[in-house]
Amino acid sequence: MKSKILALLRQRGDYVSGQELCRYFGVSRTAVWKAIGQLKKEGYRIEAVQNRGYLLVEERELFGQHELESRIATKWAGHPVTWYQVLDSTNLQAKLDAEKGAAQGALVVADMQTAGRGRRGRAWNSPPGANIYFSLILKPEFAPDKAAMITPVMGLAVAESIRSTCGLDAGIKWPNDVVIDGKKVCGMLAEMSVERDFIHYVVIGVGINVGQQDFPGEIAATAVSIQQAGGCQVSRAELVAGIMNKFEEYYEEFSAKGDLSGLTERYGSLLVNKGREVRVLDPKGEFQGRALGINPRGELLVEREDGSVTEVYAGEVSVRGVYGYV
Ligand code: BTN
Repeated sequence: MKSKILALLRQRGDYVSGQELCRYFGVSRTAVWKAIGQLKKEGYRIEAVQNRGYLLVEERELFGQHELESRIATKWAGHPVTWYQVLDSTNLQAKLDAEKGAAQGALVVADMQTAGRGRRGRAWNSPPGANIYFSLILKPEFAPDKAAMITPVMGLAVAESIRSTCGLDAGIKWPNDVVIDGKKVCGMLAEMSVERDFIHYVVIGVGINVGQQDFPGEIAATAVSIQQAGGCQVSRAELVAGIMNKFEEYYEEFSAKGDLSGLTERYGSLLVNKGREVRVLDPKGEFQGRALGINPRGELLVEREDGSVTEVYAGEVSVRGVYGYV
C-alpha cells in the first residue's frame, strides 16, 4: 500500500485527504496514518495539513523498494521488483530467483554491488549511492538461437530512456553498449539457462553510470556518467521505470515478429557505428569495413573494401572504431 500511496500522491501533485486515501485503499485512518509515518521514516517528506490532507514534497532523490514500485507502471516488466542496498551481483541474485521459479518480469535492483560482473569475465565497477544496477528475468518461449536479439532490445530501451529522461544524446554502440559522446554510459550482461531447445530463463543485467564522478584504472578513458555528460539530476527510479516501460513495448514487438524487423529503423537511428569505419575483432580473423546498420537478426552489416557485405554475429566478436572506442 505504501508504494500505491506514493504513486497517488505523486500523480495528484496536491493535497489528498486522509478520507480519500482510506476510501481508495479500503483501509482505516490509522492504517493510512501508519503507512505515511513509515514513508516519512524512509526519508519521504510528506506534509500533513488539517482539513486538506497529505502532500508529497519531492526534494531529493530516493532510491528504494517503494520508490521503484510507485513509479513502474507496466503490465509485467519490473513486477515484482526487489531492491537491495548491497548485493554481490544482481545477475547472480536474479539467476537464483529464476531457479526458484521467479516469473518473467521480476526485477532485481541494487544500490551497490560487491562483485558486479561485466562481459568477458571482467568486473563492473559498482560503487554505492550513484548508479543503477539491475537484472530483469525473462522466460522466453522462443528457441535459444534468438536470445542474442534480447540485448539490443534492452539497449534500445535504455538509450531512448536516457534521451527522454535526461535530455542527452545517447546512442548505441553495436550490439548493446549505450554511449554518450563516444564514451560508455551503460553496459549489459545477458546470461541464460538452456536445456536442448528450451530456454529456462534469461537474465539481462544492466549497469548505468548515473552520478559517478570518477572511474578507476583503464575504464577512466572510456566511461562516462549521465551527470558528467551534463544530464539533469535524474531520479534513478524514474529512469528504471522509463526503461521498463520501453523494454516491455519493444520486447513484445520483438516476440510477436520473432526478430528485430519492427525495431531495426529505431535501432539504426541511434546506432553510433553507422557509416563509420569499424574493426571487427573476430577470433576467426579480424577485418575492417564500414558499418551500415543491423539486419532483423541484430547482426551488424559491415561493408568491406571490395563492396561485399558481411553479417557480423555478436557472440564472440567485438567491434571497435578504427579511430577509438566507437
Ligand atoms: C559490460 O561489460 O559491458 C556488461 C556490464 C554489465 C553490468 C551489470 S550491473 C547489473 C548486472 N549485475 C552484474 O553483475 N552485471 C550486470
